[in-house]
Amino acid sequence: MAYNVVTLGGDGIGPEVMAQGVRVLEAVSKPLGIEWNIEDIPCGGKFYLEHGSRDWPEGSEEKCKAADMILLGAVGWPDPNTKGPVTMKNGKMAGYSAVIGNRTKLDLFANVRPVKLYEGVQHRVHGKHKQVWSPGQVDMVIVRENTEGLYAGMGGKLSPGGTTEVATDVRVITRRGSEQVIRHSFELCKRRNKGAPRDGKLRVTAIVKDNVLHGDHLFRDLFFEIGEEYPEIEKETAIVDAYTQWLVSEPERYDVCVATNMFGDIVTDLASVLQGGMGMAASANVGTKHGMFEPIHGSSPGDTGKDRLNPIATVISVKEGLDWLAGQKGDDTLAKAADAIDQAVVELLKKGAPLTVDLVGADKAAKCSEVGAALAELAVSKLD
Ligand SMILES: NC(=O)c1ccc[n+]([C@@H]2O[C@H](COP(=O)([O-])OP(=O)(O)OC[C@H]3O[C@@H](n4cnc5c(N)ncnc54)[C@H](O)[C@@H]3O)[C@@H](O)[C@H]2O)c1
Repeated sequence: MAYNVVTLGGDGIGPEVMAQGVRVLEAVSKPLGIEWNIEDIPCGGKFYLEHGSRDWPEGSEEKCKAADMILLGAVGWPDPNTKGPVTMKNGKMAGYSAVIGNRTKLDLFANVRPVKLYEGVQHRVHGKHKQVWSPGQVDMVIVRENTEGLYAGMGGKLSPGGTTEVATDVRVITRRGSEQVIRHSFELCKRRNKGAPRDGKLRVTAIVKDNVLHGDHLFRDLFFEIGEEYPEIEKETAIVDAYTQWLVSEPERYDVCVATNMFGDIVTDLASVLQGGMGMAASANVGTKHGMFEPIHGSSPGDTGKDRLNPIATVISVKEGLDWLAGQKGDDTLAKAADAIDQAVVELLKKGAPLTVDLVGADKAAKCSEVGAALAELAVSKLD
């Protein structure tokens, strides 16, 4: 039986990193006898500019809903007039349907973002690569609420006489949305059963702004209420601004962290620096029935078509997708494929080549497609 996958390459470097993700997926699946029906759906800002009224074709929502797994590259294309991302007539970013649309319509309430530093990865600081944080000391998961908060799409602009004078965005925090993601985080902490690198303690940290925001009073209270069901897990809150400096100065303190939508979005980009940058940071958007897997980075439009940026975040996202699907379908073969990809990533990074510019600098840089090819070959070798 073949599994149905929808790929949403999107804009900019999205299709390039997606091609490598699919290459690794297909390579590792073949020897295991896993079959995929892959349907690629165009989407994003460029699609909107070319088609005028939609940011993906009619019927795409239904195809995503019917898929066993969705893989996403990145969306967002610069508007030649505003210099910001292309925006649709309804005020939403073109590409919204594929990313935020899927997250909300498919109730992908948890955006799970592993923050792990692999051995061999150097950090780029002041334009040079050196080891700043230590592998083994950075191994946490940040879970971001994915369907509401500041991205709920509530708000608008007041433009008397055509000049925008007022713009509002309403932050929506609900009991249901918070409970779902908080419970997911405690369950993940239990399942992971690793604890924080510093002391091995199972710990969930709620990232909040409960000194100021009403929504965070609710989020915090629900966090401790649900936390009572998990006596074996240590619970703590961290105020988001202070959290950012602990995140980089003592990442070993964290095991699983949970945050509302925008805080989670911002802190995970910061956390990607611990991992070696945006090219290393993967994510899983999951609910109870559906799953969409994507690198956390955007479309990096200036790098389009250069075959130069890092596909590893996408490849790790594919691995996350396989692990999730293995659980959904009770299919251990998918878990084997995921494990082989994980081993391939570990080995390639340890070996140190071929890797892209973000990890090794321009002098030693390999192409995005060369990294994909190397990972595909290594993953297959791990099946022996
Ligand atoms: N989920 C998504 O589709 C998503 C997420 C974030 C941003 N965006 C969109 O992407 C566009 C560009 O946004 P941005 O510049 O703020 O963010 P970006 O993630 O595209 O780029 C930020 C930085 O990360 C680097 N980077 C990105 N991907 C990389 C990779 N695979 N390997 C190595 N380095 C990588 C870029 O070169 C840049 O320096 C915007 O239109 C934005 O709306 C989309």
